Formats: sequence, C-alpha cells, structure tokens
Amino acid sequence: MSLQLGRTQFGDPANTGNVLTREEAETLFQNWVLNPKLRMHMRQVAYLMHCWAAEKEMLDDAGTWRWEMAGLLHDADWDQWPDQHCKKIIEELEQRNIDPEIIHAIASHGHLHFGVVPETRMDKMLYAFDELSGLIHAYSLMRPGGYDGMDLKGVKKRLKEKSFAANVSREDISDACERAGIELDELIQFIIPRQANVFEP
Ligand SMILES: [Fe+2]
Repeated sequence: MSLQLGRTQFGDPANTGNVLTREEAETLFQNWVLNPKLRMHMRQVAYLMHCWAAEKEMLDDAGTWRWEMAGLLHDADWDQWPDQHCKKIIEELEQRNIDPEIIHAIASHGHLHFGVVPETRMDKMLYAFDELSGLIHAYSLMRPGGYDGMDLKGVKKRLKEKSFAANVSREDISDACERAGIELDELIQFIIPRQANVFEP
C-alpha cells in the first residue's frame, strides 16, 4: 500500500493565513479520531508545536495556533482511513481553504511515506516531534513515576534499544534532527517537561 501523495503543491496561496478556529479544529478532531492513544499522541505533538512556535520562533498567538493546528490534525485520518493517510486530511483542509503552509507541514511529516520533503520551519519541527514524542511517551508509560524524574540519559538509552517502541523509526528521528538543524539532546530536553503537561480531556 503506497501512501505517496504524488504531488508537492498543496492548497491555494490565496488562502495564506486562513485557519480553522479552535472549535472547528476540535470538532474535526473529535469526529475523525476515535482511538484514545492516537488522540493523546496528536495532542502531545500539537502542544509541542505550540510551545516551540511561542518559545523558539517567537510567534504571536495567531502564528502559534497555525503551528499547533498542524500538530493537532497531522494524523487526523490515520484512525479511520489508514489507507488514505495524509491524503484525506489534506483534501479536507484544501476544501476548507486552509493556509497552504499548514497543509504542506502535514503533507511532509513523513516524507519517506508521502514523498513530500519538509521545507519550512513548521514542516521540519512537525517531522522532528512526531516520532520522538511517541518514543518518549512510550517510555513514560513504562516508568512508575511516568514523566517524573525522566531525564535525557534514560531517553537516549531507550533510543538505542531497538526492541523498545520498535515501531518508532530511529532513522526518521536522526534525519529530522539533521533537517531541522537541532541537536537530538536539545530536542529531547525540550519535549520531556512540556509533554508531561499534556492530558487527553
Ligand atoms: Fe504522528
């Protein structure tokens, strides 16, 4: 089953700046994503994107929401339509006249699968957070204290253990760090304390 999108242009540049409201995004999220684990993952990535946009890119509220929205919806079609993964949410956002940058970020979050290379800062950070966030969360679930006391060393040890969270691509993680120009250690230390604050309501 190929998930290649077969194109690299998304949305209409005339729609630059168009976003869903929080309520609209939340409704789509609730209707499309039924699996609680996937919901948690998407909320975690959304929050990491929010924090990075605000703290590192110094974006205002509107800019921060664009990043958060990309994170919140990046896997929206994975639960119910895995064979249409990425294609379905992209087409939905195109129909709703959403900002092409947000759609491009979603389209490039797994460039080996979808055939779209991450280009912008938003693209690269979504790609970088996606897999690493999942591995860190899996690690929290096996620790008695969850995120409490979790440190860089422990996460790196898990990364080296190929059998731990085996579905998390180590190659994607190092490729993403390289593309984003970020040290793996810095990214892990950014994720741990922030992800600890995410709960699925
Ligand atoms: Fe994801």
